[in-house]
Amino acid sequence: MTKVSASILAADFSQLGAEVKKVLDAGAEWIHIDVMDGTFVPEITIGAGVVKCLRKAAPDAFLDVHLMVEHPDTQIDSFAKAGADIISFHVEAAKHPHRVIQQIRAAGCKAGICLNPGTPLSMIEELLADVDLVMLMSVNPGYGGQTFIPSTLDKIGRLKAAILATNSAVEIEIDGGVKVDNCQTIIDMGADVLVAGSAIYGSDDIPGTISALHGI
Ligand code: DX5
Ligand code: ZN
Repeated sequence: MTKVSASILAADFSQLGAEVKKVLDAGAEWIHIDVMDGTFVPEITIGAGVVKCLRKAAPDAFLDVHLMVEHPDTQIDSFAKAGADIISFHVEAAKHPHRVIQQIRAAGCKAGICLNPGTPLSMIEELLADVDLVMLMSVNPGYGGQTFIPSTLDKIGRLKAAILATNSAVEIEIDGGVKVDNCQTIIDMGADVLVAGSAIYGSDDIPGTISALHGI
């Protein structure tokens, strides 16, 4: 079944522990942590120190760390030590993406690679065999609450075909603009993990929204 990764970017940062517990109790499988450095994207958000506290607050949670940072190689060890389960970084930000994948795995985490909406799948063709997850951004990274970019759907289908052709277990995660009313189309194209921030934290019925985001 499709997994839901609740993005705490849309949560109340003054109550993060409680905000994480709330969405886990409501049925989210993963907690999505958006790390922004003010350079790769304009805003600055969460560092490894916060991840360490979240790991303590929710010992069993699966922490899905999305690095939107330049020089991701300099951040792997501290986020791994803080308790990340999977660390994903942007192919656009890494000079040696294959080495960063090796570094993530050596630090004991699963490895994911992210692509901006304007980045072609061919950028990661040679990396597919070495990652656990490919994250396709369905908005330009940097902010929550943006509108899903429709051309992502075709990109998901092409990535799914490439994964099936190699018989690999790589998961596809979709990040940005995922809502109850577009999730089924995204799932039908082949997504395995849906990130949702504003759809979940902005909802009056969080369990109902998370249940709907799992699709049918
Ligand atoms: C955007 C972030 C997303 C964001 C998604 O740069 O990577 O994870 O939190 O937010 P929504 O679900 O509101 O589009
Ligand atoms: Zn994200």
